[in-house]
Amino acid sequence: MKLLVCGGAGFIGSNFVRQRLREHGDEITVLDKLTYAGRRENLHDVLDEIRFVHGAIEDPAAVAHCATAAEAIVNFAAETHVDRSITGPEAFIVTNMQGTHVLLQTARDSGLRYVQVSTDEVYGSIESGSFTEASPLAPSSPYSATKTGADLLVSSYFHTYGLPTVICRGSNNYGPYQYPEKLIPLMVLNALAGDHLPVYGDGRQVRNWLFVEDFARGIGHALEHGQPGEVYNCGGPDECENIDVVRRIVELTGAEESQIEYVTDRPGHDRRYSLSCEKLGRLGWRACTSFDEGLERTVNWYRENIWWWEPIRTGEYLDYYKRHYGRALKG
Ligand code: NAD
Ligand code: TYD
Repeated sequence: MKLLVCGGAGFIGSNFVRQRLREHGDEITVLDKLTYAGRRENLHDVLDEIRFVHGAIEDPAAVAHCATAAEAIVNFAAETHVDRSITGPEAFIVTNMQGTHVLLQTARDSGLRYVQVSTDEVYGSIESGSFTEASPLAPSSPYSATKTGADLLVSSYFHTYGLPTVICRGSNNYGPYQYPEKLIPLMVLNALAGDHLPVYGDGRQVRNWLFVEDFARGIGHALEHGQPGEVYNCGGPDECENIDVVRRIVELTGAEESQIEYVTDRPGHDRRYSLSCEKLGRLGWRACTSFDEGLERTVNWYRENIWWWEPIRTGEYLDYYKRHYGRALKG
């Protein structure tokens, strides 16, 4: 298939690109703005097998230029970190909503299929049970609100213009190439460096962990087998409290429990996310990687790929870290 993959230099997008090249032989153009989270290094082993364009999804000319040879757009491009959305929501509105709209317009003009990569966070928090695709949307952070706005725009393009769209809502991902502002890579790198492990609030929040290769396969499945206009949840096999995730990382890295430090909670912190994935299951997808297996693979990957993360732990990242956690990193 000929794909325009937007945000393909980020964490999930780069795993998706690698998988589609290896397992499907797709012809891929990546359009990416290369924000702090997007890096050519994420595509280091496949750069000569794709067409890479440095540009923004909110730029109609850049998008039109990239869309010429495509059959479908798969949109990963987004501002993705909840904490950053709390201190600076503006970029989230431009990329997540305005950018998505430019992509929809282009898909409509060029007659392309459209896949929106979305998140369980659009449903908000749930105390017990799991969200289905019919659950009401109740986002709580500027990040999830802009992802919800984007999902609604996507649905409107299906209903109003008949654009063949699919929305794929994933739960919390983890795995290789994830920027260390997110819980798991941050804790792994801090654990390895002998630094503190900052747990928000009481650490009892629950996330539904999904290994990135399983999500990438789920998105590919929705692209190939999804019904136009439909939404598909794509959740991980295991739920885990944050504090247990951190304790497992302490064990796997050989760090000390005393590195764990409870810090001020995130404002408006969602307590629990949980997805029911029967709908995508009926199309033949399931998450194959248990949290135990995926976490061990992830820790090993960060141990073995110092070249990838060492340059990140300088400059912008150190500034962000100090501002956000009120202390500098040691290692
Ligand atoms: P990421 O932050 O690692 O990567 C985002 C990518 O988008 C980067 O390469 C960045 O440079 C690019 N980008 C940002 N703004 C852009 C713009 N205006 N134009 C073009 N490119 C731009 O994010 P990720 O974790 O890989 O998430 C990818 C998608 O999956 C997002 O839409 C996110 O909402 C969704 N999602 C993420 C998770 C998760 O746990 N990480 C879970 C479910 C859904
Ligand atoms: P995160 O990886 O930011 O994903 P999301 O907020 O999209 O779920 O955070 C996962 C969970 O870990 C969330 O409950 C917040 C918590 N967390 C910490 O306790 N400490 C941290 O330093 C970070 C980044 C997150």
